[in-house]
Amino acid sequence: MESEKILVNCALPYANGPLHLGHIAGAYLGADIFVRFSRMVGKEVLFISGSDEYGTPITISAEKNHVTPQEIADRFHNMQIETFNSLDINFDKFMRTSDPEHDIDVDEFFLNLLEKNYLVKRYMVSPFCKTLNKFMPDRYIEGTCPYCGYDGARGDQCDNCGRTLDPIELIDPVCTLVHEPPVFRVTEHFFLTLDSLQKELSDYIDSKTYWKQNVLKFTQNFINEGLHPRAITRDLDWGVKIPLPGYENKKIYVWFEALIGYITGARVYSKEIGKPDYWKEFWMNRNVKSYYFIGKDNIPFHTIIWPAMLLAHGEYNLPYNVPANEYLRFEGEKFSKSRGIGFTADEMLKFVDKNSLRYYMASILPETGDSDFSLHEFQYKVNSELVDKYGNYIYRVESFIEKNNLSPTVPESFDKNDNEILDLLRNKFSAYCEEIGNLHIKRGLSIWLEVVMIANNYFTEAAPWKLIREDMKKLNEKLYTSLKIAQYLTAMLYPYVPSASISIMESLGMQLIPGESTFLELLENNNFHVNKGKIPFEKIDLSNPNILDIQLATVISVENHPSADSLYVIKVHADRVYTSVSDLKKYYSTDALIGRKVLVLTNMDPATIRGITSECLILTLKNGDSVELLTARGEDGDQVAADNYTYNGDGTLTYKEFQKIGFSVLDHHLMVKLGESQYPLMLNGTYINLSINKLDNAVIK
Ligand code: MF3
Ligand code: ZN
Repeated sequence: MESEKILVNCALPYANGPLHLGHIAGAYLGADIFVRFSRMVGKEVLFISGSDEYGTPITISAEKNHVTPQEIADRFHNMQIETFNSLDINFDKFMRTSDPEHDIDVDEFFLNLLEKNYLVKRYMVSPFCKTLNKFMPDRYIEGTCPYCGYDGARGDQCDNCGRTLDPIELIDPVCTLVHEPPVFRVTEHFFLTLDSLQKELSDYIDSKTYWKQNVLKFTQNFINEGLHPRAITRDLDWGVKIPLPGYENKKIYVWFEALIGYITGARVYSKEIGKPDYWKEFWMNRNVKSYYFIGKDNIPFHTIIWPAMLLAHGEYNLPYNVPANEYLRFEGEKFSKSRGIGFTADEMLKFVDKNSLRYYMASILPETGDSDFSLHEFQYKVNSELVDKYGNYIYRVESFIEKNNLSPTVPESFDKNDNEILDLLRNKFSAYCEEIGNLHIKRGLSIWLEVVMIANNYFTEAAPWKLIREDMKKLNEKLYTSLKIAQYLTAMLYPYVPSASISIMESLGMQLIPGESTFLELLENNNFHVNKGKIPFEKIDLSNPNILDIQLATVISVENHPSADSLYVIKVHADRVYTSVSDLKKYYSTDALIGRKVLVLTNMDPATIRGITSECLILTLKNGDSVELLTARGEDGDQVAADNYTYNGDGTLTYKEFQKIGFSVLDHHLMVKLGESQYPLMLNGTYINLSINKLDNAVIK
């Protein structure tokens, strides 16, 4: 039997910046999981995305950086490919809209629609900036949304109510580049006659009862408000040319042509694999379903404009489903490059591995509402679920089998408990398939987690370490069942966390080949050959290791200790005034200290020394008999950071605990060991410098 084909498309990211975690969660990770899953259930999938390389944001970055738009696009196209690779997100084709092949598809589409009068010429008024002497792209005009009153609406779209806009609709428009109101000038453009497709679009949407509610509602409202002809060309230099003479100064609007990128991607891929007509199956066979994974800001383009274009064209399938995601936030805030909130995928991958990152992100996909990326939760979920529960289960089973040189085989019969467990595996597995098949990707992972929860209990209760002395037959049955659990768990984890699952499968003696293996064949394989691999997950530690609250302070008074001859009572001003009982009397006169800038450890357990409470430690470098005060430049109360980490606020230290902290010197910079790593101590971005080159016999006290 021929396998079912499906087409999976992912919004083409703009090639004008790195991908951040919000992009990944919004569209790409869910799509990749769905594709891997679909292939595992035996479907033939074509998985397409690409770079959206035209459009004004790229022109603007190019101008800012004094390079050409193509250079910007090249740079980020390549960077994004690498990011996707490093996250195991593997498209069949990641096309680019600046590929001349794309012009071929756009030209064909344009001329096809023109011939059928779905594209008509009209005059329109467009915002023209007199200062810059050119027509301005819609998104560079901002003003108040006529529908919802939001005052940061862009000329193309209002981010508050989500409506697509025309710049002339904006109340009090300004050109955002020069902050002056634009004038509106008449210019000729091509319009897509959306109004003539209103009925067909409504019918199409009415058949989409299985769509996500938010997508459906949004689309229905949009259509019910009445569709109007929409300009699909612009007065621009950077874009796909209009395939007609006389329009050399105009280009095709980025959204119109970018959508056609889905077709170009499929077609170019087919050419590359030497089957030039392969794509037609996916686009023209009416039984083939197509899925579009996108973020919510792309909904109207994929549920109205693109279906309209496809209806007008007539030869291609309309979207079967458009499972748009909501937004991912970072620690409760909107991702924002300019405000430094959130991480790019590449930044994150510097300190966690892709398996952990995919696992956590999959568990918080914003499928039904906005969700939040929290570093604390990330660490907790990876460490407790992936490493402690799942990883540890695999490790327990495999090491027991290996240590005892066993090779469990299919037992003749199972006891009631094992039959129940095997049933449960099958039931959970089919629930899992049902969920992911219905695009509830997050729920698939929660079912996996339910199975993980029973796995460790099963093994503990089976107690093979007892059976090995008592009943080898029972031992075989229990270990075989344990391996079945491991096998189901690992297969089910694969779409979410592919690399690690492949190597764990291998440690069970089974091969999982992406694109070839199926669940069916994998789960029916009972030939286990355990060769304990290294568990491919490590615990992650995203916590701030800096337990030292070291502040810059000024010495404000020095007095002799009333009942200890060798000690001073020193008051310093940091974020507040602290008292320190100190032995600096041996080395410094009162005058030599007053007014000095010193570094003090302020999160000390207060200690009472001969009747006076010492609240902080004035830090010095002691080298035999000589003593040097640690100091730096700045304001009182400025905090010393261990590299990027400022004090984590985690309580106080006793003097003894402080003495155990390992300080060292590297090239005159003071370093501290916190947890497993060394960090340079910094104040306001500069190193804390010492006169010596090595600590050797010297100490920080
Ligand atoms: N580049 C657009 C964005 O990132 C998405 C374009 S999807 C396409 O919002 F299909 F039109 F290409
Ligand atoms: Zn609005």
